[in-house]
Amino acid sequence: MKASPPPAPPAPAAPTRIAINGYGRIGRCYLRALHESPHRADYRVVAINEPADLASIAYLTRFDSTHGRFPGHVDTTPAGLLIDGEPIAVSHATTPEELDWAALGIDLVVECSGQYGERRGLQRFLDAGCPRLLLSHPGNSGADVDATVVVGVNHRQLPADARLVSNASCTTNAVVPVLDLLQREIGLEQVLLTTLHSAMNDQPLIDGYHHTDLRRTRSAMQSIIPVSTGLARGVERLLPALAGRVKAKAIRVPTHNVSAIDMVLTLPRDIEPRASTACCARPPRAPSPACWPGPTNRTPRSTSTTTPIPRSSTADRPRSAAPACSA
Ligand SMILES: NC(=O)c1ccc[n+]([C@@H]2O[C@H](COP(=O)([O-])OP(=O)(O)OC[C@H]3O[C@@H](n4cnc5c(N)ncnc54)[C@H](OP(=O)(O)O)[C@@H]3O)[C@@H](O)[C@H]2O)c1
Repeated sequence: MKASPPPAPPAPAAPTRIAINGYGRIGRCYLRALHESPHRADYRVVAINEPADLASIAYLTRFDSTHGRFPGHVDTTPAGLLIDGEPIAVSHATTPEELDWAALGIDLVVECSGQYGERRGLQRFLDAGCPRLLLSHPGNSGADVDATVVVGVNHRQLPADARLVSNASCTTNAVVPVLDLLQREIGLEQVLLTTLHSAMNDQPLIDGYHHTDLRRTRSAMQSIIPVSTGLARGVERLLPALAGRVKAKAIRVPTHNVSAIDMVLTLPRDIEPRASTACCARPPRAPSPACWPGPTNRTPRSTSTTTPIPRSSTADRPRSAAPACSA
């Protein structure tokens, strides 16, 4: 009798098809991070929507003053970009309704324009045919999205039917994994956070009429500028046990990448300084190789953390009693 043939190996799952809306600092970092990721076979960026012209998009993909040359071949066609031969359709719409998102066959839009904070605005993408949105920002409030996720803290609790998902802010990603550990291990009474954030594209290089906030009319490269921040509300959204006990300030500083967060904590009892940093060496609530607020012996500096480190949050061990974090 002839032996039956071995079962065929399972067909590889089709890669998740992604569109990036808003291809500025973060949109470009997102494409690059996916390209460098060991999981890149699982994802394909098939479309970019960005008001800038194609030549500029290709140029700023190829060359990045902060992160260096793109680690792949970047070319253009009349329809868009070619990254290592893989096509990415490029469009220049400024409203969600201008695009036929369904025709792109995408699974997800990664919203990196920062222009849509309210549920009503985000819903326009769903109405225009986008299956789901992942925001590179917190949205205006928790009620404006279906879920807010910080990897390493609550990514395993993402509801399967969530269509508007925020990945929180960069500073929330830096600070929440650390606060979550400290809250569980030691307890926290009051939290005061001061973010030192690199300059952003909403600031002028030299003084200019760039913003209605007068502070942001001043030169980004010459000034230390206090700005408003939703960080306290962002932390409370992820760690509701801390509601009403978190305060935050933000200061833009003349660096081109990374933020550092100084944390002043009121604890329920006296502890050895070493206990707080030892606590940061423990695994996060939802283990993930992408996020573990491990302490570092290296003092985090903006220039050193421009080099990719496989963690979204690093606690500074040697100099401070309470850990400072950098993202
Ligand atoms: N930079 C950071 O450190 C950081 C970190 C984490 C999260 N974020 C968040 O991510 C978002 C983007 O930040 P970013 O620093 O990447 O800003 P950015 O450099 O200004 O990029 C935003 C891009 O979106 C484009 N855009 C504007 N309106 C659009 C529209 N209606 N549709 C599609 N694209 C549009 C902008 O074009 P124009 O310039 O022509 O307007 C720009 O190229 C913000 O919400 C920010 O808070 C930023």
